[in-house]
Amino acid sequence: SDEQCDARIRAAKAALGDRLMILGHHYQRDEVFAHADVSGDSLKLSAMAAESDAQYIVFCGVHFMAEVADILTRDNQVVILPDLAAGCSMADMANLRNVRRAWAELQSVLDPDEQVTPVTYINSAADLKAFCGEHGGIVCTSSNARGVLDWAFSRREKVLFFPDQHLGRNTGYDMGIALEDMVVWDFMLPMGGLTPEQIKNAKMILWKGFCSVHQMFQPGHIDRFREAHPQGFVISHPENSFEVCQKSDYVGSTETILKTVRAAEPGSHWLVGTELNLVNRLHDEMKPKGVTVQFMSPTVCMCSTMFRTDPQHLAWTLESIQAGEVVNRIQVPAEVAKPAKAALDLMLSITR
Ligand code: 13P
Ligand code: SF4
Repeated sequence: SDEQCDARIRAAKAALGDRLMILGHHYQRDEVFAHADVSGDSLKLSAMAAESDAQYIVFCGVHFMAEVADILTRDNQVVILPDLAAGCSMADMANLRNVRRAWAELQSVLDPDEQVTPVTYINSAADLKAFCGEHGGIVCTSSNARGVLDWAFSRREKVLFFPDQHLGRNTGYDMGIALEDMVVWDFMLPMGGLTPEQIKNAKMILWKGFCSVHQMFQPGHIDRFREAHPQGFVISHPENSFEVCQKSDYVGSTETILKTVRAAEPGSHWLVGTELNLVNRLHDEMKPKGVTVQFMSPTVCMCSTMFRTDPQHLAWTLESIQAGEVVNRIQVPAEVAKPAKAALDLMLSITR
């Protein structure tokens, strides 16, 4: 039963003490989130992993996050992902083969290693972070994309941004880059479906990736909310479309969304464009404070891969540590981890 599972998790945590740290992303379901020692957005959780001395780090999040934790921790620290099937559909939209091909194709038009900084959103496989490390590039998260892109453009005239076109476009536009100076690289097509002229003229080349959860939020949802609540506020994650972000009062990472709404005036009404588990918890937290929190979409949209981590998997992994037979360890091979770490350390040094 759920109670038994909960008790197993609590018993294992008590037995492991300081040797264990459980990290929980804001999109985790309540039954798992309740057991996290630290919660946060991708940036905060990576920084926590990097600073931790715990021997076992159990990452209640998705695969790329556990990879980052493994890369940033010492060799004798063990990072565990409770359900190995917890991936990220957006991260899967870019792979090393496609990105290498794009880089090679760009060489027919310009000299990418001189002119283009590759920037990967942290929502990507470790080998893509390594690619960035090897080509003068860097990693970013939703909370530091602006600072990272400022750095990237201070070095080379163009940026290749993957996998999320929306985070790239929304951030680029905020920096003053015109929409027509940002082109979309369709990785299914030769030369990304672009002409040499389009590539030469572009400031940003945006990979055609997106988040399947955030794409459900539509500008019309905001229009309807504003009709019903003209004094209300709208806050969205930067993985939302350009139109949704433009219609929002605030745009920010999951951590920023929480901070902003927690500081809201009593009586205010908020429409929140990010994953349902975060929004539901925020709704329950703010209700007694007189702040109304509403989910942006009329239909349920959860991140199905974040949802894979359930109390059963968490209990199982914790007990495997106790038994000395660790399951679901995430270990990035050293030859990938080294250049990936260079790109991550650069990000952390710029945005700390
Ligand atoms: P945050 O870094 O804002 O937590 O975003 C992670 C993510 O996967 C959003 O979909
Ligand atoms: Fe990936 Fe979207 Fe889920 Fe975030 S919400 S983990 S970007 S699929």
